[in-house]
Amino acid sequence: MWRTAASISSNSSTMCLTSPKVEAGKMELFPESFSVQQAIEEVCSIITPLAKKKNILINNVFSLEASVVTLDQQKFKQVLYNLLSNAVKFTEADGTIQIMTEMYDNKKMLRVQVKDTGIGIRQEDFPRLFAEFQQLDASLSRRYEGTGLGLALTKKIVEYQQGSIEVESEIGKGSVFTVILPMGGKEIKGR
Ligand SMILES: Nc1ncnc2c1ncn2[C@@H]1O[C@H](COP(=O)(O)OP(=O)(O)OP(=O)(O)O)[C@@H](O)[C@H]1O
Ligand SMILES: [Mg+2]
Repeated sequence: MWRTAASISSNSSTMCLTSPKVEAGKMELFPESFSVQQAIEEVCSIITPLAKKKNILINNVFSLEASVVTLDQQKFKQVLYNLLSNAVKFTEADGTIQIMTEMYDNKKMLRVQVKDTGIGIRQEDFPRLFAEFQQLDASLSRRYEGTGLGLALTKKIVEYQQGSIEVESEIGKGSVFTVILPMGGKEIKGR
């Protein structure tokens, strides 16, 4: 059974972020029209060599509708990179990762899902997933490198664009991260 954590509240008591760019009000947004598949391919070109080392296959499934989108391209790639690098990191050898892209809500939004056949996440750990400097298992953090910032930053980037991020997972079977981003949006320049 897949479990859903639709509304995950971040840990508000955590310390300030290391990257000043992600402080509220300082993030910039530059929406532009771009090919979503080209952006996915660019991110995959970075991730695929890592996946190949573990013989992990990355499938890219997309609806033709989701061709040109209007979003902040750099942030889109950053979100996808964070999700894919986690998917590769937390999936054992010979696993599979699927990227699914489609338009959503009458083409007003883009939905991107990253599904893996990895180690999975316990439901009780969902609230900690998006908190800064959190790796779920101390023994895992010794095994898997990282600072525990990727998902916290990802959530901030997504929510800054009025988007949402959700996770469904089953321990030992895998996880699906779903990001929904509203199209368009105004340019926001940093102060
Ligand atoms: N796809 C996944 N499958 C299983 N566990 C995951 C997955 N993605 C994230 N996690 C868990 O959530 C934790 C937080 O993820 P996050 O991306 O924030 O940190 P990280 O990958 O450990 O470090 P960093 O992203 O800073 O390199 C991970 O350490 C891991 O325990
Ligand atoms: Mg990460």
